Amino acid sequence: MREEIVEAAKLIASTRPWIALTGAGISADSGIPTFRGPNGLWRRYRPEDLATPEAFQRDPHLVWEWYRWRMEIVFRAKPNPAHTALKRLEDLGVLVCVITQNVDGLHQLAGTRCVIELHGSIRRVRCTSCSYRAEVSEPPTEIPPRCPECGSLLRPDVVWFGEPIPSEALSRALELCERAAGIIVVGTSGVVMPAGMLPHIVKSRGGYVVEINIEPSAITSIADVFVRGRASEVLPQIVALVEEMLRRAYS
Ligand code: OAD
Ligand code: ZN
Repeated sequence: MREEIVEAAKLIASTRPWIALTGAGISADSGIPTFRGPNGLWRRYRPEDLATPEAFQRDPHLVWEWYRWRMEIVFRAKPNPAHTALKRLEDLGVLVCVITQNVDGLHQLAGTRCVIELHGSIRRVRCTSCSYRAEVSEPPTEIPPRCPECGSLLRPDVVWFGEPIPSEALSRALELCERAAGIIVVGTSGVVMPAGMLPHIVKSRGGYVVEINIEPSAITSIADVFVRGRASEVLPQIVALVEEMLRRAYS
């Protein structure tokens, strides 16, 4: 067993409550491409050039093409052992909530009860002018899709660059950061705010930061333990050790 895995498990088993912050990297092994890094780009576009209200206004067809492609992948994807490990940690009473930047809904599919979606969900669409909202389970057949109520353009119910995080999601996330004993940061580059700021809030209060990523990120310099590796391999090992440590402590 690698030393950092044991260190991470010891920290996690020694205190509570823990929260987690997840990013695209946790779903990479479910076959969903990340935004940044190798193979992170769709065609030649950076996310900052597509996931914006301006891009949508300029070329809704292009933005919808990107989301249709991502919806096709997400609707076929299944939670991987990293999602399942976090669900197990919640069942153990150690993890109180998963705060995610992902829009794929895989934490909920894995059974995690407390999930805060900072960036919305690709499994919902909403109207750009009326209050129409709907759940979707397949990509739109015609793009850009139109509102059945008023005929305006529909958009994915996600947060774009330059748009605020839904205020309830953000305030719940901030509250959790104020009382968490530690935060497990999984598969995020940590460069998109305000999500990337959450580990710093926990750290500044004296909480622990455990990070899992295949490479160093913007969070790594404040991590108490950095475990380098794929989330789907590393997280199940950490959680199995935590479980063993807790069992021993109570027997
Ligand atoms: P990024 O694509 O920026 O970063 C993905 C991170 O996951 C990188 O640090 C990778 O090293 C890491 N990674 C890749 N595969 C991994 C694996 N198997 N196990 C562990 N780590 C792995 O994704 P996010 O940080 O989630 O926002 O991006 C943040 C936001 O930027 C997204 O929510 C999205 C995007 O634009 C909006 O669309 C508003
Ligand atoms: Zn409408």
